[in-house]
Amino acid sequence: MAEFVAVAKVGDIPPGEARTYPVGGKLVAVFRVGDEYHAINDLCPHMGASLATGWVEGNAVTCPWHAWRFCITDGLWLDNPKSKIRTDVYEVRVVGNDIEIRVPEPAQSPP
Ligand code: FES
Repeated sequence: MAEFVAVAKVGDIPPGEARTYPVGGKLVAVFRVGDEYHAINDLCPHMGASLATGWVEGNAVTCPWHAWRFCITDGLWLDNPKSKIRTDVYEVRVVGNDIEIRVPEPAQSPP
């Protein structure tokens, strides 16, 4: 099982903003909403824009390229919630002054 990895210090991400960090072979967008942190795959499922550079309003981020909106807490595509489209969501925890992320290891194919 993948371990948590420290990516930033508390306070490195201003409220209402996000930053991108490489974790476990993925680019992870870490959002700060109030004093809570949320982590999703940074690459938009549409065409790969950085969601961390999008517009954040509440728990929604709007992609900077074509304005698809995603929930930063569950990854759901908010413009069409009945679709199966969502972005990956990762565990976040704060330990001391560190913001830590856990990205699951890719599934192993059977031998
Ligand atoms: S790349 Fe994100 S909406 Fe198109």
